[in-house]
Amino acid sequence: MYRADSPGRINLMGEHTDYALGYVMPMAINLYTVVHAQMGNTVRIYSQVFRDVHEFSISNQQKENNWSDHVRSVFWVLREEGHRIGGLKAIVGGDLPIASGLGSSASIKVAFLSLLNEMYGLNLLPVEVALLAKKAENKYMDVPAGISDPFSIVSGKKDHVLFIDTDTLNYSYLKFPRDWRLIAFYTGIPREVASSKYAERKRMAEEVLNLLGKHSSIYVNESELRTLPSLYRKAFGYIVRENRRVLEARDALRTGDLEDFGELMTTSHWDLARNYDVSSEELDFLVKKSVELGAYGAKMTGAGFGGSVVILTDSEKATRIAEGLTELYEERFNWEAEYHVVVPSDGVKVRRM
Ligand code: GLA
Repeated sequence: MYRADSPGRINLMGEHTDYALGYVMPMAINLYTVVHAQMGNTVRIYSQVFRDVHEFSISNQQKENNWSDHVRSVFWVLREEGHRIGGLKAIVGGDLPIASGLGSSASIKVAFLSLLNEMYGLNLLPVEVALLAKKAENKYMDVPAGISDPFSIVSGKKDHVLFIDTDTLNYSYLKFPRDWRLIAFYTGIPREVASSKYAERKRMAEEVLNLLGKHSSIYVNESELRTLPSLYRKAFGYIVRENRRVLEARDALRTGDLEDFGELMTTSHWDLARNYDVSSEELDFLVKKSVELGAYGAKMTGAGFGGSVVILTDSEKATRIAEGLTELYEERFNWEAEYHVVVPSDGVKVRRM
């Protein structure tokens, strides 16, 4: 019997920059997809959330438009890449909320990839697991996501955030100060609705890079932005500023400057909302109110349009802010929202039991 604990993630800075091969600052969090598995001839999976079983042969590549597609995508990608694998019997559970913008679709793929890696001796390195998860998402699920979610889920480190150059995949760990607190607050609006708009943003970014003859957004400067048609300039300007903010956030983290870091987060949110157009009324409300309640900063995390905001506070204020926000959110949107105080955590772990 094997057990995988695959975390979710939040992104602290560097939103919508990974598909433009820019900088990101994510971390794995203490909410997990947990999978218990045994070897088997076919694939037989049970979800404790959906309370249903799916069974298919490992050569079956058919999509079914339900949660089992995440697992099907893993079998598809491993076979596509020429790995020899068998099947498994598994139970999928854990406490990572699904579709709330906390990386659940990358988390389940990384869980199954890591289990199969261990069970069938594939010798895949963590970075290879992340790249396979991305390929499964892009090519099988048809979701054009970048590398940052699976990468942070395989490489997360307790008490640290990651700084990743998504072009070279060079990365480093930055210590997360002990008394800083992060709250992931879910709007109740699934982030799924986002995918077509997400794809539009990605296409735009690729077109701009093509036009400018650049490989990565890191190398685009302000004067080059001025040569672009105005809609492109507006959207891509966000990406250029956000790359810079990730570097500034890295400095703020190194010096332990809570106020600077928080301000960068909030600035990032309003830039995402106003110039990149990926926010929503609910996300904006949460950012505005958390700052009014005394948070150091707040921003949407992940693709946007729904999903969650991440709020930066300290140990003293965290509960008061989260509770205050819950009340205000219910008053305004008639919705009892869910929140989690999250901490930087280790990446995926597989144990043989
Ligand atoms: C989703 C994608 C990531 C990234 C974020 C936006 O979470 O999976 O690759 O693009 O959106 O920062």
